[in-house]
Amino acid sequence: MSATSPGAAPPEALTAPVVIAVDGPAAAGKGTLARRLAAELGLPYLDTGLLYRATARRVLLAGGLPTDTAAAEAAARTLEAADLQRPDLRGPDVDQGASQVAAQPPVRAALLDFQRSFAARHGGVMDGRDIGTVVCPDARVKLFVTASPEARARRRWLERQARGESIPLEEVAQEMAVRDARDAARDVAPMKPAEDAILLDTTELDAEAAFREAWQLIQARLDV
Ligand code: CDP
Repeated sequence: MSATSPGAAPPEALTAPVVIAVDGPAAAGKGTLARRLAAELGLPYLDTGLLYRATARRVLLAGGLPTDTAAAEAAARTLEAADLQRPDLRGPDVDQGASQVAAQPPVRAALLDFQRSFAARHGGVMDGRDIGTVVCPDARVKLFVTASPEARARRRWLERQARGESIPLEEVAQEMAVRDARDAARDVAPMKPAEDAILLDTTELDAEAAFREAWQLIQARLDV
């Protein structure tokens, strides 16, 4: 790290809140990893997927369609903190609905300020699809976390089993493939690695090993 002369303003990189972007497809291990990184770094954690999930849940509860742009935008603009705490944000309808509302530019625009303000206020570890590309293009470290479709489907299936849902593995894999394809193909803020993102494939890694690998990558980028 270069020295700064006394009295001079410190370089922006030393004063800006630290943002770590953790992007990637469904069930790649982003959430577990991002939460752990946040705890270790003493940074707040934001699961940005919850914003899209909560938006879809609101639309669905009102009897609307997540593809109805006006309804989805209105829901996004009126989200409250409590909406992000609901226990019913992880069902299959909300999964698909979240990626449908997320494909609509007015919904993304409505949720952008909140995400950017969060990052600007405290810094943080932010988990999503477009953090490194759109929300925080200046993030200090950008990880793009992936795993094979089979590994990801199995993880999501195990999570659902643990919640008492009985659903065939093939169905989970199919639902996930539809959602990933929609997320990657949308015109606005598609899911893709930022040019300066570091790819982390967790197919063969358990949560601890994924954390250790990410931690080394982050230490190297933060130069600490
Ligand atoms: O937990 P999982 O990885 O399955 O999904 P999530 O992170 O909760 O995100 C749910 C959906 O929200 C995704 O399928 C995306 O369509 C959308 N999303 C997005 O478009 N941009 C983000 N920054 C985060 C989520």
